[in-house]
Amino acid sequence: MMKVLITGGAGFIGSHVVRLFVNRYPDYEVFNLDALTYAGNLENLGDIEDASNYTFLKGDINNALEIDDLFKKHQFDKVIHLAAESHVDRSISDPLAFVRTNVIGTMNLLNAAKELWKDNFKNKLFYHISTDEVYGTLGETGLFNENTAYDPNSPYSASKASSDHFVRAYGETYDLPYVISNCSNNYGPNQFPEKLIPLFINNIIQNKQLPVYGDGKYTRDWLYVIDHAIAIDLAFHQGKTKSTYNIGGFNEWQNIDLVKLLCKIMDKKLDRAEGASEGLITYIKDRPGHDKRYAIDASKINKELGWKPSVTFEQGLEKTIDWYLKNEDWLKNVTSGKYQEYYTKQYIAN
Ligand code: NAD
Ligand code: DAU
Repeated sequence: MMKVLITGGAGFIGSHVVRLFVNRYPDYEVFNLDALTYAGNLENLGDIEDASNYTFLKGDINNALEIDDLFKKHQFDKVIHLAAESHVDRSISDPLAFVRTNVIGTMNLLNAAKELWKDNFKNKLFYHISTDEVYGTLGETGLFNENTAYDPNSPYSASKASSDHFVRAYGETYDLPYVISNCSNNYGPNQFPEKLIPLFINNIIQNKQLPVYGDGKYTRDWLYVIDHAIAIDLAFHQGKTKSTYNIGGFNEWQNIDLVKLLCKIMDKKLDRAEGASEGLITYIKDRPGHDKRYAIDASKINKELGWKPSVTFEQGLEKTIDWYLKNEDWLKNVTSGKYQEYYTKQYIAN
């Protein structure tokens, strides 16, 4: 029975990857290792928590001894590494936390995998989930492809670039089999309401201001989270070892246009007057080092593995909004307590 360790499986993308693996591969033993930081939430996995091929392990990837012990005890065959500090704004106020988890935490996993697998790397894999932000920013034209030079601008992207480099270095130096994928902005159910789309959905529900950074003319390439999970499944099973895949939605939006579309759909769903939510838009101080534009050329994964997004942005956004409207308790739980401190510091005290 193949033992697959998924790190960060209680987070946004991780929970969708865990669910997909538990449901699609009943003959795998799926382990979810997560420290349950503010971003991790076992409520995201309530529907599969009792599955016979699923085990949750509470643990911190920053703790090397704990990680070594877990690898020895469970003898994982393959790793899908998603655990990370993931929010750019938090990386600006606390960059060291990002070095600890994203760089040192990744190193601890690499070391434990190398030690456990050192006698035979056959059928072993370290799959590192990364971001398009490692490539820095684009001008008005062009796309990031797998050969674009790394040029990270935020502490978050610098930490992810560093971890990508270490994964590749372990492949070159120790022959550790790896795959890396770099994905664009995800959206969908279970995303913590610090990121643009769920933050704005929550604020619209509550009739709170919608804080758009700078002039709002920043561009992101949006992908529905389940399409990302499907791409991860393909790259995990069929990706070439020691290679990188870019994953994106072929779906660029300027923030302000996306926010206006969101307002329009939400007004309809909430039975509000046309234009009511747009009135909540407030332009605020820009994010320092704000990358102007991200856009992914996903033709390699399309040609090699046959992957392409399965839902349109309009369909995905509709599913996402419906999920948040149906799961107001989830939203209330994650936005109580510490979230309020974060919100005040990020949006009100500044
Ligand atoms: P998230 O913040 O929603 O979840 C991160 C998870 O990691 C949480 O469950 C958290 O508890 C866990 N975690 C954090 N620190 C940990 C530690 N020290 N030990 C163990 N667990 C820890 O993140 P996400 O948005 O789901 O992103 C998952 C991965 O995908 C990250 O590596 C991120 O860089 C990458 N990624 C995200 C996006 C996106 O748009 N969200 C896009 C591309 C790549
Ligand atoms: O590109 C992939 C990356 O996408 C992932 O690696 C990151 O983990 C993920 O957080 C995301 O990073 P972004 O910084 O692009 O996402 P965020 O949702 O924070 O912001 C999206 C855009 O919206 C960005 O241009 C900043 C802007 N924004 C964001 C927030 C939170 C606002 O204008 N106001 C806000 O309050």
